[in-house]
Amino acid sequence: MAAVTDRRALLTALAAAPLAAGLGLAAAPASAQAADVPRLGALAAAKGLFYGAALTSAQLQIPPELGRLLLDQADVWVAEWQMKWGPIEYDGPGLRNYKVVDAIADAAAAHGKRLRGHTLLWHTQMPPWAKNGRIAETRAAWDKQVAPFIADYAGRYAGRVFQWDVVNEVIEPDDGLPGALRNSPYYRMTKGSDYIDQAFHLAREAAPDAKLYINDYGLEYPVAWNERRRVALLKLLESLLARGVPVEGVGIQSHLDIAYGFDAAVFGRFLDAIADLGLEITLTELDVREGVDNPNPLAQRYQRAADEVRAYLETALDRPAVKGVLTWGLCDPFSYMRLGLDIADNRGLPFDDAFRPTPMHETLAALFAGASPRST
Ligand code: XIL
Repeated sequence: MAAVTDRRALLTALAAAPLAAGLGLAAAPASAQAADVPRLGALAAAKGLFYGAALTSAQLQIPPELGRLLLDQADVWVAEWQMKWGPIEYDGPGLRNYKVVDAIADAAAAHGKRLRGHTLLWHTQMPPWAKNGRIAETRAAWDKQVAPFIADYAGRYAGRVFQWDVVNEVIEPDDGLPGALRNSPYYRMTKGSDYIDQAFHLAREAAPDAKLYINDYGLEYPVAWNERRRVALLKLLESLLARGVPVEGVGIQSHLDIAYGFDAAVFGRFLDAIADLGLEITLTELDVREGVDNPNPLAQRYQRAADEVRAYLETALDRPAVKGVLTWGLCDPFSYMRLGLDIADNRGLPFDDAFRPTPMHETLAALFAGASPRST
């Protein structure tokens, strides 16, 4: 499992050197190779956009090449799993350990990176004492154990996290519940009534300066299950806004998949519908899934992934509501596609197994360079 591997790497890193603001990176020599590679963050920033990447605290140090690339390439950092409820409140109810999050936030600040918060509420990666039905599915449990976490966490990083995924993956039309909401523990605790509203109000109060996002997946392609999710999300957004819930942005995860067939018109209409509600958009977890055992030659596979990204981003970057793009990781060997989804050989990120830029990197660089300038 990715989390286990990562935890091990993190422990090794902690033993080798205490996590500190600099994380030793400032002193690390830039490889000649890194120096020549166009910087995605800088290219995006020149157009009033941003580019960032998901990372773990361990990746900032091990191996040094990846840490260097995260510094050079990504202007926004988001934690791949260490800023979820489970790792923070791992030890028991109310026992919140922010050490690792502090280290990530300090490193981001020390290196002039903006930090995306992911996430205040998710039905996955809950603490061991809460997951798999171990937390009572009652309003009291929400009030006593979940709501205080949201308030405490958002407040602690107020002014440091610039965008929060307040809720992650709350829609699931296939669950058949009113409003197409996911049948999650939080839904059951509150009888579906108002947990999303409350999460946003708590976050607003605790972190007045952060942009508050709803983040979700399965929104990108012209396939029926994605269409159901798009419709559901738009309806949810309309009702949240009508009730005065302070949602300000939509995170579209953007785990692309070459099996589906992208349709610019369908996706473009969805982006426009979000923008028409007055909301901003971030593409939060971009990568490309190739599928298991892709038989094609490597060069072709890299190019196919890059082409998928080109079609997708040409549509997205055209819209001023789209503020930025984050890839879910930077280098293939650490990809969620490989470690989390078990596609052992997937190629779908801007850097390859030898930390060399892929055609996807070239495509991202060209698209950022060619994007029309926008005000932030
Ligand atoms: C994944 C991480 O990549 C893994 O390391 C972790 O173990 C599980 O979560 N959608 C999300 C992300 O919103 O939080 C998920 O990240 C990938 C899917």
